[in-house]
Amino acid sequence: MIKLNNGFLIPEIGYGTFPNKEKLVEVIPIAYKNGYKLIDTSDNYLNEEFVGQGLSKIDSQDIVVVSKFSQPLRTFDLEKCFNESKQKLGNLNIYLLHWPFNHLWKQQWKLMEALYSDGLCDAIGVCNFDMGYMKELLSFCKIKPAINQLERHPLFQQKEICELCKKESIQIMSYSPVARMDSDLHESEILKEIASKYQKTVSQIIMRWNIDTGCIPIPASTSEKHIRENIDVFDFQLSDDEISSINGMEAGKRIRFNPRTRFTNKQKVKFFIYRYGHNLIKRFKKK
Ligand SMILES: NC(=O)c1ccc[n+]([C@@H]2O[C@H](COP(=O)([O-])OP(=O)(O)OC[C@H]3O[C@@H](n4cnc5c(N)ncnc54)[C@H](OP(=O)(O)O)[C@@H]3O)[C@@H](O)[C@H]2O)c1
Repeated sequence: MIKLNNGFLIPEIGYGTFPNKEKLVEVIPIAYKNGYKLIDTSDNYLNEEFVGQGLSKIDSQDIVVVSKFSQPLRTFDLEKCFNESKQKLGNLNIYLLHWPFNHLWKQQWKLMEALYSDGLCDAIGVCNFDMGYMKELLSFCKIKPAINQLERHPLFQQKEICELCKKESIQIMSYSPVARMDSDLHESEILKEIASKYQKTVSQIIMRWNIDTGCIPIPASTSEKHIRENIDVFDFQLSDDEISSINGMEAGKRIRFNPRTRFTNKQKVKFFIYRYGHNLIKRFKKK
């Protein structure tokens, strides 16, 4: 287990649920049986009700459930969105802001702080916050995020932001840890050589590298073989030299969205109108 900056304990590895839906009702109990006690989902994966149905099949008292706020045009209903997610899931421990939505994320963070201060969840955090966004957040937040969930694998390691988060006691959670089986990663001779030494697979070496560098990987899979394989990494540890070799694999190869280019100009304008139009309407109503 890892202690977050507010003392809340979470497992060293989690189970990612995107893009799966109905299948999760069967797969969540399989993941639990194989040892996963941390489940990651989001309101925009449209699978929270299936995750909830899967969780209801097991004794889920000891499972940490993570979900995300991804509805920029429902910013002022953030608490309502949280409650809707919680109702579908049955339990919701950690709530994350999914993206730094232009013009809106600062307001959203204040609402996340209110949610946490009111005791509605065990921890709050963000996703996809790069150096610039994180420094800005740290300059005004009253509650530091407990987690920053980022794309992280050996070909895209995000070293600078990981170092900043480590310094600020913000836990990194690595999404797309096997880079969706990108061949440049899985055909790497460095990884294959380390895997053969420990009689493990390349995916297992990547999970272990994340854990040994203090990050929580959240691989997704619907195959029982892969689910078991990805968590069967607690009987070995990488040497410092092996970690250094993997650290040397950085290739700047992002496979998911860049938070800086995630939204189109049209979306940004929409967010702007929503943010400031809402204030004007409020003022008008007061009068
Ligand atoms: N916060 C964010 O913005 C964000 C963005 C993306 C993802 N996420 C979260 O992170 C989770 C994981 O990321 P991801 O789904 O993008 O990528 P991923 O976990 O790197 O890759 C998932 C893919 O890899 C395959 N796979 C997994 N383990 C394997 C193994 N041991 N051997 C062979 N194939 C394997 C799976 O197929 P099989 O089903 O066949 O095993 C699946 O197609 C998501 O489910 C989601 O919860 C968060």
